[in-house]
Amino acid sequence: MKIVKYPHPALRTLAKPVLAIDKDIQLAAGRMLELMYASEGLGLAAPQVALEHRLLVMNFEGDPEKKEAEFVAINPVIVDSKGALNDREGCLSFPGLYQSVRRFKTVTVQAYNLKGELYEMMCHDLPARVWQHEIDHLDGVLFIDKMGSLGRSRSEKDLEQFIADFEKAKKKGDLPPGLEPKL
Ligand code: CO
Repeated sequence: MKIVKYPHPALRTLAKPVLAIDKDIQLAAGRMLELMYASEGLGLAAPQVALEHRLLVMNFEGDPEKKEAEFVAINPVIVDSKGALNDREGCLSFPGLYQSVRRFKTVTVQAYNLKGELYEMMCHDLPARVWQHEIDHLDGVLFIDKMGSLGRSRSEKDLEQFIADFEKAKKKGDLPPGLEPKL
């Protein structure tokens, strides 16, 4: 398992609801947590490891020691939202790219944990931002789609570099030669 980078087409797929929390899902969640911590991210969504599940892992402190900040979310939904906040945001599929993105300040989310229990939580600011960013991944929506026009134009050089790196990875054989980028 590894993190795919923009413009890998897996990032633009619509993930499918998890119908059963089986060994595969448990194994995937565990490996995603390891990858997220190794990459020093706050969240990771299944499409970022080329899996089509509605599955997320998060740790709002980014600290594997802080288990109280760690969440696995299966079939998550935002059930309420309010306010707005602009802040700097990044993504493990866009290494080195940070831009201001406007998000709801407060969200209430519902999701299932690995035991199949439904939980609900309301959060603000950074955790609310992480939830919104990661749930977007399940719908093939990326933070570059949510940037304002200024942030987006400031990102163009980085995006061109990601596209060039994707083509290089195909030539090297790190990605299948027929894999089509999805911008
Ligand atoms: Co991301």
